[in-house]
Amino acid sequence: MVAELSAELIAQVQQAAQLLRSAKRICILTGAGISAESGIPTFRDKQTGLWEKFRAEDLASPVAFARDPKLVWSWYQWRRQLVHDKAPNPAHRALAQWQSASASVQQHITLITQNVDDLHEQAGSEAVHLHGHLWKNRCSQCDSVYEDDPNAKDKPLDFDEQLIACPQCGDYIRPDIVWFGESLPVAAWQTAEEAAADCDIFMSIGTSSLVYPAAGLAQLAKQNGAQIIEINPNPTPSTVVDLTLAAKAGAVMPVLIDKVINKSDK
Ligand code: APR
Repeated sequence: MVAELSAELIAQVQQAAQLLRSAKRICILTGAGISAESGIPTFRDKQTGLWEKFRAEDLASPVAFARDPKLVWSWYQWRRQLVHDKAPNPAHRALAQWQSASASVQQHITLITQNVDDLHEQAGSEAVHLHGHLWKNRCSQCDSVYEDDPNAKDKPLDFDEQLIACPQCGDYIRPDIVWFGESLPVAAWQTAEEAAADCDIFMSIGTSSLVYPAAGLAQLAKQNGAQIIEINPNPTPSTVVDLTLAAKAGAVMPVLIDKVINKSDK
């Protein structure tokens, strides 16, 4: 694996590993880029097929759902179909391995994700979801959880585009996802803010860092003295980043985590 990385990148990975080995508290924020190598398009990739004339921002909003609930529900059913057979990639697995080894290397890791897929959990991680869950639904009016979820992972898959009426109040069921213009879940955001404000190293993996408030976590960490490491093949213009690994997360994370956990410098 190391042989596939350039000499410059290997040197940067060594530097990142050194920083991470000396850190006690690490806060990690992941975005759509970490799931890209699992075959899930990122948000700012051009939409494909039926949906190419829409922008994600124009579908993922309460205004869009109020205007045309069928259109928005159909888009999420399409996204569910796209995601349901996708599996964690080496970046998800490396993070899970690090989390499970963290106690033995005396580190505290908080993994925060903007992703609504469950690939971190499938890999064995515990993650704080800032933007909700693709596989959960709730009522758009009374907020009750829609338990009889035909898309639950353990049920036969059903990507029916028909809208569902809430059994409690009759209004439409919507995906349990934080849309543009909506507040983040309070407990998840509090955990994220606390972890960012109290970490030695903040890692930003596979996010364009464009969508706030999540994008502000790196700044919060920096203000509180943390060093910031970014992993992204297209580095962001963020001015708070101390070290950039300009590579795909799936290529670099297994090498980096091996160096952190096993203290290997090969
Ligand atoms: N490894 C690491 N990063 C990658 C990879 C990869 N293999 N492939 C792409 N990337 C990077 C891209 O260069 C880009 O900077 O991942 C980033 C993905 O950016 P976005 O599509 O903007 O995703 P994200 O930052 O998660 O979006 C934030 O916006 O639309 C909303 O709610 C949605 O959670 C989402 C939020």
